[in-house]
Amino acid sequence: MAAVRHAHVIGWGMAVPETAMTNAELSAFVETNDEWIYARTGIRQRFIANEGESTATLAYRAAQQALEVADILPTDLDLIVVATSTAENIFPSTASLVQDWLNAHDAGAFDLSAACSGFVYALNMASDSIRVGSIDAALVIGAETMSRILDWQDRSTCILFGDGAGAVVLKASESPGGVLASVLRSDGSGGDLLAIPSVGSIDASESRAGANGSKLYKMSMAGGEVFKFATRVVSESVEQACRLAEISVSDIDLVIPHQANLRILQAAARKLGIDVDRFMSNVERYGNTSAASIPIALCEAIEQKRVQDKDHIALVGFGGGLTWASMIIRWGISKPSEQHGSLLNRQRRHVQYRIARWRSRSRRWRRRVNSRVRDLQS
Ligand code: UT7
Repeated sequence: MAAVRHAHVIGWGMAVPETAMTNAELSAFVETNDEWIYARTGIRQRFIANEGESTATLAYRAAQQALEVADILPTDLDLIVVATSTAENIFPSTASLVQDWLNAHDAGAFDLSAACSGFVYALNMASDSIRVGSIDAALVIGAETMSRILDWQDRSTCILFGDGAGAVVLKASESPGGVLASVLRSDGSGGDLLAIPSVGSIDASESRAGANGSKLYKMSMAGGEVFKFATRVVSESVEQACRLAEISVSDIDLVIPHQANLRILQAAARKLGIDVDRFMSNVERYGNTSAASIPIALCEAIEQKRVQDKDHIALVGFGGGLTWASMIIRWGISKPSEQHGSLLNRQRRHVQYRIARWRSRSRRWRRRVNSRVRDLQS
């Protein structure tokens, strides 16, 4: 009989742009102030991508860190999924760019669109693939450059969001635990409450923009409605995921929610009957980084030693779609060494990153030469 397989998180990493923007700096060009923003959201600052930074470069940096902690090689990966709403292109996917830069030449790669719930959706897809035995190792990334799709004149949205990326490595193991259960849900009837209209399978005329006057490629949000939706689904879906994992809500050691607004987390904690101290929050420093917020918060929770072996962790995302998702993880199969990774593997990873650049360039060059030769022959 085949052994039962479990999907464990064995590596994690995060990256944010160099430049932070405080509430005071924001108030220099949009009518707002630090008191309002902090009181209504809990946000003090957010990171904003510089010219050379993109969703893919942030994702790549977070991925390198996660591989370092996991102490595996990019060539060990079977799958790369990037949850994002701010991909560089419709295609090639951000995941394919990261695959190329890492030299993960045996991995499939795709982007996943489920807005701020995307990371939990992606983790669910990857862990199910591991459990059924179709893959052994996956890199799951949440990455965003929200600053590129904000309407910087709209104070009801531009104060909320920031840029960043977080990544985890999932690996198959016979050891019980890891991802125990997930709940994925959507209510498309609320799609207009939170949207980024873009050019797609319908034309790019003015009618493509949102009914509430939103602009193409710019985010629009009915904040109050989304707030009510969020407080309801966080508690409901965490309870559902606990039932599926056969644990009770009181068994949860730490909830790592999507970081949208401190008040949403406080209201959800009250509804669940969990002390708010058991909700991880770092929205103060990063703002809402959409699909990146949960893996970034997970990294910081681990760094702050708030996640211990055998702990039950609840991840919960909510956002555009509308979508929402919860997941219960029982933490830990192996503790990475203090140095994070063996010296030999670290050197092999760095060699692979160099090879990746060379391999990519030489393939492009070969394609160009071949096409020139074909042209000359015809
Ligand atoms: O990641 C996806 C999920 N997104 C979310 O979960 C976001 C959910 N929604 C929210 O977090 C909150 O609804 C907001 C933070 C967006 C807004 O907070 P609110 O308490 O719902 O404020 P409001 O929209 O009801 O606005 C209250 C007042 C209004 O003025 P009046 O009409 O009362 O005179 C707004 O014009 O605050 C005003 N206002 C601002 N004032 C200063 C709105 N934005 C600002 C601002 N600075 N940035």
